[in-house]
Amino acid sequence: MTYNSAGNLKEKISALGLGTWVFGGGKWWGEQEDDVSNAVMAAAFSAGVNLFDTAPFYGFGRAEKLVGGFIAGNRIRKNIIISTKLGLDPDAPGFHNLKRDRMKKEIEESLSRLGTDYIDIYHIHWPDPAVPVGESAKTMRGFYEEGLIRSVGVSNHSVSEMRQFMEVCPLHFLQPPYSMFNRGIEEEILPFCVKNGISVLAYSPLHGGMLTGKFFREGCIPPRDLRRKNMKDFSEPYYSAEKKAFEKIEELAEACGISAAGFALAWLMRKKGVASVLTGARNTVQLAENLKAVEAIPDKAVLLQADKILNKMSADLTVID
Ligand SMILES: NC(=O)c1ccc[n+]([C@@H]2O[C@H](COP(=O)([O-])OP(=O)(O)OC[C@H]3O[C@@H](n4cnc5c(N)ncnc54)[C@H](OP(=O)(O)O)[C@@H]3O)[C@@H](O)[C@H]2O)c1
Repeated sequence: MTYNSAGNLKEKISALGLGTWVFGGGKWWGEQEDDVSNAVMAAAFSAGVNLFDTAPFYGFGRAEKLVGGFIAGNRIRKNIIISTKLGLDPDAPGFHNLKRDRMKKEIEESLSRLGTDYIDIYHIHWPDPAVPVGESAKTMRGFYEEGLIRSVGVSNHSVSEMRQFMEVCPLHFLQPPYSMFNRGIEEEILPFCVKNGISVLAYSPLHGGMLTGKFFREGCIPPRDLRRKNMKDFSEPYYSAEKKAFEKIEELAEACGISAAGFALAWLMRKKGVASVLTGARNTVQLAENLKAVEAIPDKAVLLQADKILNKMSADLTVID
């Protein structure tokens, strides 16, 4: 495993972090056995992964409880950097709820499910259009000053929202979507984070599994789970454009001796400002494949070739749009 300095943390975090959204199962990801999720955590930990990302929204407490149970069962609280979130409420309009009382209730519930008295990295999951950014930042500053959280993060925030947040509270982490098929942060958000010392934890690095190539193989049916059934990537012109780009990326990966998934993760790990790539693995086989990205050292020229392929795909899609 390789480790990176991140945010204000004194210890380094693993370049590949473990995402636990899929452990929540349910309508978002479909059936998932807790025993299998526990085996994924055990395999990740023994491979040196020390960053576990979770959220109350993942299975409505199920994923946080699994992470807490794994840490307590193995007595490894000091060895794991827990990243979790707040601000989504299944009963609120659009699921957003960053009212002060709700935030206080959420942190107490997360601490209890995780079996800990502090959270290492605590993110606002999504901005709440009904609550000014400065107001939720003030509540986060309170948690930070009380020592309930060691680092402050936001997820899915724009540069303007991060600026407003930073007027009130220190900001150490951003958790945005980032992958070969979703490069929206590259123009504005990533340079802002690099300039302001905000470490990026990249989520959905395989674009919901698309970058494994399995949904491009002949005869493969797109999954019907809520997470993916409405992804525009499964409709035209996106599907064909991504398939074409993927096939070229896979050739580059093969020449480096790794799978396309491993290559896509390695490509992300080498982006300036990305402190960790949050991989979501449903089982230990997927995890083992994704872990290979850590040892992969694609040449700079190969990474630039990948960028060219992806730029061409984006340009073609822009013309169509
Ligand atoms: N802050 C946020 O708003 C936010 C949003 C999304 C995610 N996240 C975090 O980021 C983590 C990763 O995101 P993600 O789960 O969307 O990641 P992803 O890497 O884009 O997708 C993960 C899924 O792809 C499939 N997969 C992964 N590796 C594979 C392999 N080697 N071979 C075949 N299939 C493979 C699995 O699903 P199947 O087997 O079902 O295909 C797996 O659950 C999450 O767990 C969560 O912690 C945060």
